[in-house]
Amino acid sequence: MLNRIHTFHRYSVASLGVNIDHIANVRQARRTVEPDPVPMALLAELGGADGITVHLREDRRHIQDRDVDLLRQTVRSRLNLEMAATDGMIQIALRVKPDMVTLVPERREEVTTEGGLDVAGQLLQLKTMVQQLHNEGIPVSLFVDPDQQQLQACHDAGARWVELHTGAYAEAAWTHQPHELARLTEATAYSRSLGLRVNAGHGLTYQNVEPIAAIEGMEELNIGHTIVARALAVGLKEAVSEMRSLVQNPRREPLFASQN
Ligand code: PXP
Repeated sequence: MLNRIHTFHRYSVASLGVNIDHIANVRQARRTVEPDPVPMALLAELGGADGITVHLREDRRHIQDRDVDLLRQTVRSRLNLEMAATDGMIQIALRVKPDMVTLVPERREEVTTEGGLDVAGQLLQLKTMVQQLHNEGIPVSLFVDPDQQQLQACHDAGARWVELHTGAYAEAAWTHQPHELARLTEATAYSRSLGLRVNAGHGLTYQNVEPIAAIEGMEELNIGHTIVARALAVGLKEAVSEMRSLVQNPRREPLFASQN
């Protein structure tokens, strides 16, 4: 019989990048100052985030330039700046100097990033951008579908990292999920055989994350929406109770002292 006591395995352990875009979404719904993603990033770090990710979209629908500038000054883990592969965004990244840039496809009408980058289809352009960022010491990750042709193109573009799009896995019916998981597992192994380091993300939840976190060689998962949703679920009761006590027991003295 196998002696379990003497059987040791060494597993790779993935780290967690927390995407805080949806905190900014709530603020932008009112164009006000709360919730502010900058102090929230500190709370995420206190909770154990290994990195903070923000997507500065060209339409600035959630994260603003001011957020990125302040986060650069305050994030003490790693700041991963997601952005479209355009010259304008590259100039911003060269000025801000995040710890990593993840290039993603962007379409104005989409609700969220819908597919991976077509790296093979814009190889020369991406190669130049990757080089510009690497020259300034900023590592570049390319967000792609788990597809060998795209992964080979990421290598050819000179990227050091890829982020595998987990959307198809997250959206698959449970009968099809093992197939999508196998694609991601194979893509991770293939990327690493090319010398690429591997992140993954999109659509991961408390229910579906574990098989992805357990993929051997997976370095970091970028997770946003489900964490912000969970924060509402675990925080709403306390938030309502604080407001209720103010409404039921208000201070009666005038808020502003008389000027005279
Ligand atoms: N990784 C990338 C490249 C993304 O574009 C997004 C969504 O902004 C995420 C990860 C996080 O996805 P989700 O919010 O679904 O966790």
